[in-house]
Amino acid sequence: MVNLPETVKRQTMIDAVDEVIRERKTAKVLRDPADCPPGTAEDWLPPDFVEQVRQAVAVAGWAPFHKAVHRETHLTGALASPVPWRFYILERASCCALVAHIRARAAAQPESKWSKAWGSKIPRLLAATGALVLITWLPDPPAEGQAPALTDNNMEHIAAAAAATQNLLLAAEARGLHTYWSSGGILGDAEAFALVGIPAPQKLLSAIFLAPPGAPHDAIEPGALRDKRGDPAQWSDWPTVLPPEA
Ligand SMILES: Cc1cc2nc3c(=O)[nH]c(=O)nc-3n(C[C@H](O)[C@H](O)[C@H](O)COP(=O)(O)O)c2cc1C
Repeated sequence: MVNLPETVKRQTMIDAVDEVIRERKTAKVLRDPADCPPGTAEDWLPPDFVEQVRQAVAVAGWAPFHKAVHRETHLTGALASPVPWRFYILERASCCALVAHIRARAAAQPESKWSKAWGSKIPRLLAATGALVLITWLPDPPAEGQAPALTDNNMEHIAAAAAATQNLLLAAEARGLHTYWSSGGILGDAEAFALVGIPAPQKLLSAIFLAPPGAPHDAIEPGALRDKRGDPAQWSDWPTVLPPEA
């Protein structure tokens, strides 16, 4: 339970939290990838943007988690926390560098995963974003040559990483940023991991695009399922459990 300072009313806190949760929405901010040459100055990025992202990332880490990660697989490098998620924050210049990598590989390898990626929304998202946060989850080691299994442990690792992701979305929303949770497409590929420096045993859960309101764009698209969720009566129940008969 939150202990409030005397100056903050409980209802004020409730209203603020509820409003942020309700107002969080998918905003796919898209821009022509030609507008993202590496090395260009970006005067539309607010001076405190990176600090805002830093703060949002820090508070997002207060997600619940049930199990520590597999030590021998995941606690070998500099990121030594037992939490089952890792955040990789790519600032604007790195996002434009990724656009350049996708463009170059697509040109060199027609009919490849890279040419497919070049035709996807990922380069347009990268070209518009202020920052990209790649959030991975840390599976227990799979059997030789297998993908991670949906074990109880792994399900809880994914759930915890998803909670951290939602925290980031809400923290960014509260700071007035556009947010979009993408599966990431090519960004989850092993070669993309190598470009960013993400260890191979990790799995991409979330590619979070964060853009300030003034970001130049060609379009902002909403989530396709935004208005399809129905009201609580369509996804929640209040079952009554009777005590055992005497
Ligand atoms: C795990 C996850 C992955 C998602 N990946 C994509 C994606 O790859 N492409 C996409 O268009 N939307 C993706 N979304 C966003 C959903 O489309 C969006 O949340 C949904 O339409 C509801 O809209 P809202 O976020 O505005 O409430 C993803 C959402 C989640 C939770």
